[in-house]
Amino acid sequence: ADVFTYDPGFTSTASCESTITYIDGEAGVLLHRGYPIDQLAGQSHFLEVCYLLLYGELPSAAQLEDFESRVTNHTMVHEQMHRFFTGFRRDAHPMAIMVGVVGAMSAFYHDSTDISDPWQREVATIRLIAKMPTIAAMAYKYTVGQPFVYPRNDLDYASNFLRMCFSVPAEDYQVDPILSRAMDRIFTLHADHEQNASTSTVRLASSSGANPFACIAAGIACLWGPSHGGANQACLEMLKEIGTPDRIPEFIARAKDKNDPFRLMGFGHRVYKNFDPRATVMKQSADEVLDLLGVENNPILATAKELEQQALADPYFAEKKLFPNVDFYSGIILEAMGFPTSMFTPIFALSRTVGWISQWKEMIEDPAMKIGRPRQLYTGATQRDYVDVEKR
Ligand code: CMC
Repeated sequence: ADVFTYDPGFTSTASCESTITYIDGEAGVLLHRGYPIDQLAGQSHFLEVCYLLLYGELPSAAQLEDFESRVTNHTMVHEQMHRFFTGFRRDAHPMAIMVGVVGAMSAFYHDSTDISDPWQREVATIRLIAKMPTIAAMAYKYTVGQPFVYPRNDLDYASNFLRMCFSVPAEDYQVDPILSRAMDRIFTLHADHEQNASTSTVRLASSSGANPFACIAAGIACLWGPSHGGANQACLEMLKEIGTPDRIPEFIARAKDKNDPFRLMGFGHRVYKNFDPRATVMKQSADEVLDLLGVENNPILATAKELEQQALADPYFAEKKLFPNVDFYSGIILEAMGFPTSMFTPIFALSRTVGWISQWKEMIEDPAMKIGRPRQLYTGATQRDYVDVEKR
């Protein structure tokens, strides 16, 4: 019989070759196409990083302008898609709506589903990047019972998203540049992270030749889980449950107890066994936003800051190399901006869409591409004969 290497959770299996993102988890390094994430988050902006991830190089001024105008031209969703939203229960989780609506894009935009045609692949790419903020904002508006807000193409990507979420008929939301910058940073810091669970899902789904909208919907489904994209929501819920700094020791004790399944959400990472470089930038951003909004006395933030310090000083977390991850801080920023926790993962999904598509594009353009087909170690019954039901 064939002999296969057993690698549960794929901790030591490289599933592909890629030129997009480099991570050194021991050293806490994250590079996109060679550029350090702190430089990109500090000096660039999300749409420029999208271009870099997709096409491999930073754009010239003319290339960037062209890319931004193509994305802007595609921000509307087909009017008929509104009916799809209204088919969901009004209290549906926005992630459930996102999985359904993005999957349904293959039915609305089937003129960009032929993956053998480079032009159609490009149109699908631009459509997905352009429409994800609109779809995420619509999912939010629907679940809070407010009318959909159409995109405004004179605004930048992040401001447009904030406006679509927070404008109401009586009042057009005025986007503060500090909040728009913080939103753009959240998008940038989540844009790609090599072969994480959702990206591997997108690659595996696409390897069969499935259309890009269906594959991105698969990525969204995978991202939903609390060990992956759901961690920022889980982290904020945990902070609310802790409530006040005096209760932190009790929760730290629970996290250390082997007989208690509780974990400190927002701590630890499969790859980073050092400070997550994204968390460093996100922490600065959290301070800026909280200064602006004047919520220094917010008990959730006070709890978060104290938890961070107590966990970092605790030998258990030091020995296991558990540091605060990007979700620890992004949750605090989103909470301060006024997003409900249920929107945290949709915002991660819209940010990661470019990473999923870049990885998909790289895979599809590789002439050596093969369908993904892991094998297994069979541990079930050996061959035996069927027994009629009355004799069992
Ligand atoms: N709190 C307490 N103990 C922990 C934690 C935690 N957050 N994370 C790991 N451990 C312990 C775990 O109990 C285990 O102990 P032992 O070796 O004694 O059995 C050890 O550390 C290693 O844990 P693991 O589960 O084998 O490590 P992993 O690399 O498979 O897990 C992780 C990585 C992110 C799933 C995990 O650290 C975790 O569950 N963290 C909380 C959820 C979270 O914040 N997830 C966001 C991840 S970053 C964003 C993303 O990728 O989407």
